[in-house]
Amino acid sequence: MRWYRQSGRHTLPWRLTHDPYSVLVSEVMLQQTQVDRVLPYYEAWLERWPTVGSLAEATVADVIRAWGGLGYNRRAVNLHRAATAIQDEGGGFPKGVRELMALPGVGPYTANAIASFAFKQPVAVADTNIARVLARLFHGVASQRELSPAEVIATAQAALPRRTARDHNLALMDLGALICIARQPACNRCPLRSACAWRNGGYQPSLSPPRPNPRFETTARFARGRIVDALRAETSLSTEAVVELLPAAHRPDALRLLTALRLDGVIEQNAEGEWRLPLVTAG
Ligand code: ADE
Repeated sequence: MRWYRQSGRHTLPWRLTHDPYSVLVSEVMLQQTQVDRVLPYYEAWLERWPTVGSLAEATVADVIRAWGGLGYNRRAVNLHRAATAIQDEGGGFPKGVRELMALPGVGPYTANAIASFAFKQPVAVADTNIARVLARLFHGVASQRELSPAEVIATAQAALPRRTARDHNLALMDLGALICIARQPACNRCPLRSACAWRNGGYQPSLSPPRPNPRFETTARFARGRIVDALRAETSLSTEAVVELLPAAHRPDALRLLTALRLDGVIEQNAEGEWRLPLVTAG
């Protein structure tokens, strides 16, 4: 905690608030996107939709356009659905982990993060950074991939101080992001180095190294992003026009990609069968 007070990322805007809606927006954006990239989107989003009620009144097309280059557009749809669900229930933000997990797009990690960061509940948070720190510190392994998810959660709960849980979670997060990084950790600057089971055990290498990523352009996620990017710029596109904007390798998959996007609520068809971002307000 001394290290955190000195070296933590205290000015991240979502840490300067306890507003649960702001924390929800930040955590959903941070699920798969780096902090630096999220910062401008977070600020712009809250300026445009400062409350659950204002977001619930937006159209899905508006929220997907505002989501811009963050990727995984389904997150924007889920954020909008969460706002709509809260509004429909009378506007009170759910507080308990179980109620939070009932919101679209809110899994165990995000529910615990909101309970901890917004409501100061004594619950453990275990994002990838925290999981890596705990795996090394207590289990002496290089990576959380050596542990089961249940072991990670149990370890996080066992390490949690009840009275200072929020700062404890944020401190572990920053230790994992700034010092105990996946490759080339800065152990000489680590406040926990003398207690670290991984360091004391001679830095046993990971038995299950990460799988190499496929080239992004070959993935369905890339092709989905292409389609949504085109629909951000156009009112609507025919199926033929969508096929043409895809790289040749993805063209045979066009209908499958479109159907998956439609089922996720990211796109819809107009009366002529052309594709567009959804104009509805309520998900
Ligand atoms: N502060 C609160 N939640 C965070 C997160 N998911 N990533 C980085 N900083 C955070």
